[in-house]
Formats: sequence, structure tokens, C-alpha cells
Amino acid sequence: MTLVDLDHLKKAAALKASEFVRDGMVVGLGTGSTAKHLLVALGEQVKAGMKLRGVPTSQETAVLAKQAGIPLIDAENRWEIDVAIDGADQVDPHFNLIKGGGGALLKEKIVAASAKQFIVMVDHTKQVPVLGGSFPLPIEVIHFGWGSTAREIEVLTKSRVVLRERNGTPFRTEAGNLILDVHIDRISQPGELETALNLIPGVVETGLFVGRTNVLIVGTPQGVHTLHVPKT
Ligand code: A5P
Repeated sequence: MTLVDLDHLKKAAALKASEFVRDGMVVGLGTGSTAKHLLVALGEQVKAGMKLRGVPTSQETAVLAKQAGIPLIDAENRWEIDVAIDGADQVDPHFNLIKGGGGALLKEKIVAASAKQFIVMVDHTKQVPVLGGSFPLPIEVIHFGWGSTAREIEVLTKSRVVLRERNGTPFRTEAGNLILDVHIDRISQPGELETALNLIPGVVETGLFVGRTNVLIVGTPQGVHTLHVPKT
């Protein structure tokens, strides 16, 4: 399957996700290539007369949302987000996620956590039996003492930790922090791992999104599937 084919599946999933947005809603707007399709779809709905306001999870999304004509809520205000919609890098059978491939995980988690509903849209290649393996877990850490923070993460996870770089220099998040990518083979207990990582001083947030999603929209070559969280 080519990248173009995958992009069609992302677009199909994003179009389906846009159907969850109703007139008057405040919408958390995700970041990434799938979210870009969502912004275009929501822009069309706004042009057609729908009243909605967006809370962007990155500067990139803010720019694209404005271009699409979606009114945005000032980040300084208190939000009441009706629905947040975002992509993901991996999804397990319980709808636990790895996010942060684009480095926007902190804002994405704040927005997802404050939304009444969090909807995730992916192409089918993101579905995995267990998180980890092919996709490293991004962890946002503060710059001060990052080497010690990385060592603690290595000890906890028994995995290789790599400082994310862009153009030969450390990647900086919008909050000015660093990203450590942790190469973990199998994340069999994501909830426990998220809690343990968050206890390490210097960790700002992890890319594990555990138990936050109840609707998963999957673009597949056979069509778009809307899945609801499985009962445990
Ligand atoms: C951004 O930091 C990420 O969490 C994205 O939501 C995630 O990487 C999905 O991106 P794509 O939609 O581009 O695959």
C-alpha cells in the first residue's frame, strides 16, 4: 500500500469523524496528516453555515484551521470542549494509543482530557495487537537534566532511549521541551507504564493515551469502520 493510498484512507476516516461535529460545538482539533483532512472537512461545514469553534492542538493546526475558515478559541480562555478529534500513531484492541509522532502530544493530551468525548481516526495500519515495537513511545521532558531523566526512563523500561533531533539539533516542542523516543518492544500494561513514567522528575507528559477514547474510526481498503470501545 502506497503513501497515497494510505492518505486516501486517512481522508475517508477524517470525513467520517467530521460527522460527529454538530452545530454550536466546541471542537478540539488534532495535529497531523489525518487531522489536516479533518480541518478541510470542518471548513466546508463552516462554509455551509455550521457554527463551531475550534481549540487547536498545535500552531500548525491553528494555521490550517484559520486557512479553512474555522473560528478558534483563544488558548487563554477556559474551554468547554464538546468533542476532540485527533489521529494516532498506534492503537491497541482496547483503544489505548501511542501519540506524539509529530511532537504535539502535550497539547493533544490536555485537549483530549478536557473534552466530553475524544474520537480517534486512523488508517488500518495503525492498529496493533500490543503497543510498542514498530513505533517508539515519545516522552516530552524538560531540558534541565534531560540526560538523567533519560537514564531513569531507560532503567524503568529496560529500553533504548533516543533524543529526538531535527536538522541535526534537538527537536523542541511548542512548550520548549525535548522529546525522548523510547524503543519498547511490547507495552503490555500501558496504564501502569504511563503512571510510572509520570512519576519520574523531568517527565512532562507521555505519548500514552490510555482509556481516553471511546470511538475509533478506521479507514481500511474495504471502507471506513466506526468502532466503539470494547467492554472489559
Ligand atoms: C502528533 O503529535 C501526533 O500525535 C499525531 O496525532 C499522530 O502522529 C498521527 O499523525 P498522522 O495523522 O500524521 O498519522
